[in-house]
Amino acid sequence: MSKTVLVSGGAGFIGSHVTVELSQAGYDVIIADNMSNCDETNYNGVCAILGKKLPFIKMDFCDQAATDKLFSENKIDAVIHFAAFKAVGESVAEPIKYYKNNLDSFLNILQAAKDHGTHVLFSSSATVYGEPDVAPVTEQSPRKSATSPYGNTKQMCEDFLRDCVAAYGMHGIALRYFNPIGAHPSALIGELPRGIPNNLVPFITQTAIGKRECLNIFGNDYPTPDGTCLRDYIDIVDLAKAHVCAVNRMVEGRMDEPYEIFNIGTGRPLSVLELVNAFQQVNGVKLNYRFAPRREGDTIAVWADPSLAERKLGWKATRTVEETLAAAWAWEKHLAGK
Ligand code: UD1
Repeated sequence: MSKTVLVSGGAGFIGSHVTVELSQAGYDVIIADNMSNCDETNYNGVCAILGKKLPFIKMDFCDQAATDKLFSENKIDAVIHFAAFKAVGESVAEPIKYYKNNLDSFLNILQAAKDHGTHVLFSSSATVYGEPDVAPVTEQSPRKSATSPYGNTKQMCEDFLRDCVAAYGMHGIALRYFNPIGAHPSALIGELPRGIPNNLVPFITQTAIGKRECLNIFGNDYPTPDGTCLRDYIDIVDLAKAHVCAVNRMVEGRMDEPYEIFNIGTGRPLSVLELVNAFQQVNGVKLNYRFAPRREGDTIAVWADPSLAERKLGWKATRTVEETLAAAWAWEKHLAGK
C-alpha cells in the first residue's frame, strides 16, 4: 500500500517541486498551504505535470485544532514542513511576526506528529552555519549565532525537532539547503517572488525579461577570486529528489539515528559573477548589471560538503548549473507568456 506524505507549504517554490517528485516516486501526497505567499500557479502546474488533481487543503498550521484534525482524518506517514515566512530583511523588521508564524506552526506539527506516529522532515537552511570559519561546511561544522530572526527560527526549529525526537521516540530529518535555484524542466512550476525579489536568480531572470532595470551585484571587493560572494547553488529538482530519499529512509526504517541532519548542496562554490556569466552564456541574453555596495548581513563564502547525503541518502546533485539556469529562464518566459 502506498504511503501518504503531507507537504505543508506545498504550493510554494520548494514544496511544489517536492510534491511532484514524491508523487512520481509513488507516494500519495496531501498539499496544505494557507496561500499567504503564493497563488494557485504552482498548484495548478503540479497537477498539470502529474496529469491528476492532488488533494489540496487551504489551512494555516498555526491553527492547532485544524492541524490535529488533518492528522486525525488522514493516515499520514510523514510530514514535510515548508510552511514558513522566509524573507530575511522582513524578519529583521518584524521579528514577532516571524517567531509566531514559524515557531507556532512547527510546534503544532510536532505535536500532531507525536500524537499520530508521523515521521517529520524539516526544511532547514545553510543559514544556520552563518559565516563559516572553513568551507566547505559539514553537518558537524558549528552553527553560528543567527544573523536574523529568520535564521534564528531555522536553528530553533532544528532544536525543537531534535528534542522531540529524543523525548518522544519520534524520527526526524533536517535537510539544510544551500541556495535552491531553477525551475521544473516543464516550465510549469517555479519561483514566484512577490514584489522585488531578494534572491539572486529571480532578480536575474526578471532583469533579463525587462521587469527590472538593472541587477545590482552586492560587493566586488570580497576576499574571493573575483571579489564577489561564493555560494552553493543547488538545482530545485535535484533538491526535491533529496526529499524523496529522506522520506524513503524514514518510512523504511533505515535511519542510523532517530534524528539526522544532511547538507543538500552540490559541493561546488560559484561566485555571483560566475553565475551571472553562465546565465548570459547559456541563454544567449545580455544582462544589465552593475557593481553595488555590499549587502548587509551577507556571508562571504559558504558551500556544502554533501558527502554525508551521498553516503547515507544515496543522493547527489546531478544537474549542471547551465541546465538549471536554462530552466529558470524558461520559467520566467513562461510567466511572461513568451
Ligand atoms: C538567502 C538567505 C538564506 C535563504 C536563501 C534562500 C541568509 C543570510 N540568507 O541566502 O537563508 O535560505 O536566501 O534562497 O539568511 N545578490 C546580488 N544581487 C541581488 C541578490 C543577491 O548580488 O540582487 C548576491 C548576494 O549578495 C549573495 C548571492 O547573490 O552573495 C546570493 O544571494 P541570495 O540569493 O539572496 O541568497 P543568500 O543571501 O545566499
